Amino acid sequence: MPERTLMVTNDFPPREGGIEVFAYEMARRLAGPDGAGVTVLASGRRGGTAGESPERFDRRQPFEVVRVDTGMLLPTPKVARRAAALAAERGCTRVVFGAAAPLGLMAGRLRRDGGVRRIVGLTHGHEAWWARLPGTRQALRRIGDGADHLTYIGGYTRDAIAPALSPAARERMVRLAPGVDTGLFRPGGDPSQVRERHGLGEGPVVLSASRLVPRKGVDALIQAMPWVRARFPEARLLVVGDGPDRDRLRRLAEWTGVEDAVVFAGPVAHDSMPPYYAAADVFAMPCRTRRRGFEAEGLGIVFLEAAASGLPVLAGSSGGAPETVAHGRTGYVVDGGDAKEVAERIAQVVAADSAAKAMGEAGRKRVERAWTWDGAAERLERLLTG
Ligand code: GDD
Repeated sequence: MPERTLMVTNDFPPREGGIEVFAYEMARRLAGPDGAGVTVLASGRRGGTAGESPERFDRRQPFEVVRVDTGMLLPTPKVARRAAALAAERGCTRVVFGAAAPLGLMAGRLRRDGGVRRIVGLTHGHEAWWARLPGTRQALRRIGDGADHLTYIGGYTRDAIAPALSPAARERMVRLAPGVDTGLFRPGGDPSQVRERHGLGEGPVVLSASRLVPRKGVDALIQAMPWVRARFPEARLLVVGDGPDRDRLRRLAEWTGVEDAVVFAGPVAHDSMPPYYAAADVFAMPCRTRRRGFEAEGLGIVFLEAAASGLPVLAGSSGGAPETVAHGRTGYVVDGGDAKEVAERIAQVVAADSAAKAMGEAGRKRVERAWTWDGAAERLERLLTG
């Protein structure tokens, strides 16, 4: 019988986002069919985003979720004591940190007081900038030394994080890339549901889905729309997600004169995303690197979901995002700082119906081959077993 695992994570559904999806997909697989293999310690007893409350979400899970009553789970002494006590009570000898930074700083406490023997910290995009600033770089080094393994999602983040670690911790880094539920995200969904709900008409739809922050490049898509509309007057841009940039983006759409062509759908729960992909002709997130390299895309699960759904994908040339696309075969890597280039690629894909279809098919195959949650979970299980 496999040993029990405690997952400690600030990011967990029902909140939306890449780390949330990653942590959840690992937790439910480690838990096993009866849910006995995992206890999750997560932030946020209250709240929830696209509808469901954490209480309701947690009740639906076959495994135990313990919530700390805070919006952000940090490695404070109090949280470390709580995590160690929980590990000891539940007999969890293994720990996964949903994101290694900063929670991995609790590793010592968990080993000492919680009886924990194996620790794996998952890294995503933000650890890449942690590696660049002196204070956080040192903390990351400690996190690496405290874990049996730090994982990385792709070549870009590995190269960014590795120099901050001790040689021994660097040696123990292992690739653990995200995947896609290819049963949920697949071609051939019904486009009418979302098209009708958002009044998208019959014209081509460009979909983007992300937290609304400048790095994700929704502004470049809005600026691209006048060019796109010059060729395809019925084209619409459908933006899923919410975030601090929302009002600026709305103003930008007005200012650019395309407010009637841009639809802000708001946040959508992860399970409810497939009809949005089904409604689209192309997925685009022209993400760009900001703040002198500190803010870059780690990878981008949305690109993989879009490809699995059979869509051609346009990804910005930021960080690890290009790793999700076979340029010219499953989509294009674009410069997110160049709205004209973005517009041209969109128009190119929309105009070439059969080529776009072929890209979607190639993208789906690529995801099925190399980006699966089952594969990631098996690898994580091996890391936890030692
Ligand atoms: N942002 C957003 N908004 N995401 C949503 C929403 C929504 O309303 N609804 C569902 N999602 C889901 C998407 O379907 C996708 O599964 C995930 O949330 C977004 O993941 P990413 O595209 O990977 O972006 P991120 O910035 O939240 O994730 C970070 O961690 C990822 C996993 O390691 C970044 O560092 C990514 O680059 C990295 O891939």
